[in-house]
Amino acid sequence: MRKPVMAGNWKMNKTRDEALQFIYAVSDKLPSKDKLDSIICAPAIILRDLVKRQGDNLRIGAQNSHFAESGAYTGEVSPVMLSSTGVEYVILGHSERRAYFNETDETVNLKIKAALSHDLKPIVCCGESLEERENGTTHSVLEKQITLGLKDIKEEELETIIIAYEPIWAIGTGKVASAEMADEACGYIRSLIEKLYSKKASDKIRILYGGSVSTKSVSELMAQPNIDGGLVGGASLNADSFIELCEKAI
Ligand code: PGA
Repeated sequence: MRKPVMAGNWKMNKTRDEALQFIYAVSDKLPSKDKLDSIICAPAIILRDLVKRQGDNLRIGAQNSHFAESGAYTGEVSPVMLSSTGVEYVILGHSERRAYFNETDETVNLKIKAALSHDLKPIVCCGESLEERENGTTHSVLEKQITLGLKDIKEEELETIIIAYEPIWAIGTGKVASAEMADEACGYIRSLIEKLYSKKASDKIRILYGGSVSTKSVSELMAQPNIDGGLVGGASLNADSFIELCEKAI
């Protein structure tokens, strides 16, 4: 019922030439848009070059956006600017942004609203740290991130939002959460959406798992009822590996 998603998060990797090589290598080999939404989220400086070469079977996203439309925010990129490049998606609230750039649930909320008002589709990240997992507070952490992150966002706006559950301890560590653990957390997020909105909204929203997803682990993760796709860092950098992830996601 929910169309699967495979989103690559390149983080701060790839020069313009490397990015273009990747796009040429994957463009004819990805599943069609009716089967899968394949997305690459690239550094801001190469978005325009990638957007020019995107097709129906590969859409381009940014990795962050400011909440203001313009202003004295040296080094930042606004949702208006992103929208003018033609990107379709934007990752918001990634744990690396929260940890290294002081993003909070409140700023993530402002960013989501700003992105929506400029027709960008947010991929909103949430997830607990290892300490929070071990002391049993995963659910309350997710509840806070989702409730504050989606504050004042209307049900019809939720339709363009994708949520990514990314346990911090699994990101870039090679420690993928077990499929059952990932599904349980994604199911909990779905139940929060039902509580905050409606059963219809919770049935519709797409929830991805992220954290050391690889071509080996993707099939088992995708087979889980509450997991609709992946947000993939390391394994999305190589063209053949990204193609395989996309094929296995459908
Ligand atoms: P990883 O990164 O796949 O390299 O763990 C995922 C992410 O941070 O989105």
